Formats: sequence, C-alpha cells, structure tokens
Amino acid sequence: MSCTVCKTLNCTNNPLLARLPDLTSEQPTISQNNGDAMTTLSGPTNDLLHKFPNLYEKVFTVSTAPTCIELYQSQCGSLPRTALDIGSGPGRELADLAEMGIDCVGVDFVPMMVEYAQKNYPKVEFIQGDMREFRLGRKFDMITILGACINYMLDNADLEKALTTVLAHSHEDTVVIVEPYNTTSFVGTNTPPLEYVIPDGEFKAVGSATYEWSQKEQLISRVRTWRFSEGQDDIQDTYKQRLYFAKELQYFFEKNGFSVVNTVEHQQSKIYNKSLFLLATPSN
Ligand SMILES: C[S@@+](CC[C@H](N)C(=O)[O-])C[C@H]1O[C@@H](n2cnc3c(N)ncnc32)[C@H](O)[C@@H]1O
Repeated sequence: MSCTVCKTLNCTNNPLLARLPDLTSEQPTISQNNGDAMTTLSGPTNDLLHKFPNLYEKVFTVSTAPTCIELYQSQCGSLPRTALDIGSGPGRELADLAEMGIDCVGVDFVPMMVEYAQKNYPKVEFIQGDMREFRLGRKFDMITILGACINYMLDNADLEKALTTVLAHSHEDTVVIVEPYNTTSFVGTNTPPLEYVIPDGEFKAVGSATYEWSQKEQLISRVRTWRFSEGQDDIQDTYKQRLYFAKELQYFFEKNGFSVVNTVEHQQSKIYNKSLFLLATPSN
C-alpha cells in the first residue's frame, strides 16, 4: 500500500493513491516556526486518515454535533443560526448541523478533507484554510474546533494566532466550543488510544500506536503502524501534537479576548476515554 520502493504514503508510485485519484490534489505549503512541525503538519500528508477521509470516518464513527448542540443550548437555550467549524475534517459534524437548519461553514487545512466534504455534503460550504490566518469576513453564533485540531497549534504563538482568528469571526454572543485532547489521557496511569481500527472494506486494517512525550516542549509524538488484512505492505504514519491542560487553554483564551464559561468532560467515543470541551464567549 505504501510505495514499494520508498515505503512512504505520498510517493506518486503509491498504489493506494493510484486507486483514489480524486483525492490526490496538491499539498499546501506548510510553514511553521518549529522545524520538526513540518513532519507534524505533514500529519495531513503523513497521517493515513487525513489523506483518506473515507477511512477517517470508518475509524471515528461518532459525530460530535449532538454534543455541540447540547453544550450550546446549555448557554443560550436556543439553536445557533450559524456555525463555523474550524478543522472540519470530513465534514460530518456540519452535515448533521445543517440538517437542523443551521447555516454552516467548514474550514480545513488539508485539501483532501475539503474535497471529500464538498463532494459528500454539497449543501454545506467547505473552504481550505489555516486556522492561524484565514478570514471569512463574517461572524457566527457558534464556532467549534473539534477532534483535537487545536492540539496542532504546537507553540504559544500559533495558538494565539488561532484564537485571534476565532475572535475575528465572533460577535458578542458567540459561543466557542473547543475539544482539545483530554491531557489526563496521556499522563499518569491513563493510556492514550493504542489501537485504531478500520473495521471493513478494501482497506480493513489495525493501526497500533506508540507515544513519546517531550516534557520540555509539551509535545507528544505518535508512531502508528497500520497492518492491512489483504496482504498489503504495512504503513507507518507519525504526528506531533501539543498537549494543553484545561487551565492552560483557559489562560490563553482569557489573554486573547474571551471568557471561559464552562469546562466539561464528556463520554464521546470508544477511542477517547473522556473528551474535554471548553466553552468560551468574547469578553467584551
Ligand atoms: C483529527 S481531525 C478532526 C476532524 C473533525 N473536526 C472531527 O472532529 O472529526 C483534525 C483536522 O484538523 C485539521 N487541521 C490541522 N491543522 C489545521 C490548521 N492549521 N488549520 C485548519 N485545520 C487544520 C486537519 O486537516 C484535520 O482535518
């Protein structure tokens, strides 16, 4: 499945790419301060599930949309009229919200994710952009950053740029819902997800993950090996993400124009023991 010569996923000789030609558009240029982050944000280019959103949806089967509505209503009582999902991935959450009559826009960094979402959910607008810099020129009732997208902000400066983007799309009553990793899953006696399963289809596979933790940089590095059921070569994909504790994120939100109004642990999926959600509103 990886290139038989160089064993990487991105090589144009990769037979998987050849079989899914509609998902092989150009990669964006990724620039980050930290040299190593190239490999991380090549997460999009290096993470099997980012490159193939159809497989992402087979591994992560639970939509967070109902939780977002529950959390939004706990603040506002009503449904949002408009929603922006940052790091919208395959687009499933926004498709669910659009079914409720909410006017939705999704922004994601990876073109494959955007193309997949546009193709599968044509009623929702999906745009390619980087949360550190995009500007849509409109404001939304609810802004979500789900599925640990915020953990791609590897250093404080990137996080603050992302929060500036969120503020630029907020009006005074906007509710921001952020789902970082629950860092307690990575420390102490708790374990992060060790196994990822593509349960069926042409690329049925099990991905076994190991993690390294850099205390100094507060980064986790994951190495995951995918073993396929149909005699395909193994694939290894890697990522780095920054871990944030809830109080730390609260500090950055408050420094960048928000008040954190609630922090909630929530049972969400089989892969993550407990998801963590922070709810914030603009402070002015
Ligand atoms: C784990 S997926 C989560 C997808 C979806 N939100 C969910 O909860 O299922 C992380 C997503 O974040 C996106 N992403 C990573 N860095 C980003 C950035 N700088 N700006 C926008 N999206 C980004 C990736 O492309 C990927 O689609």
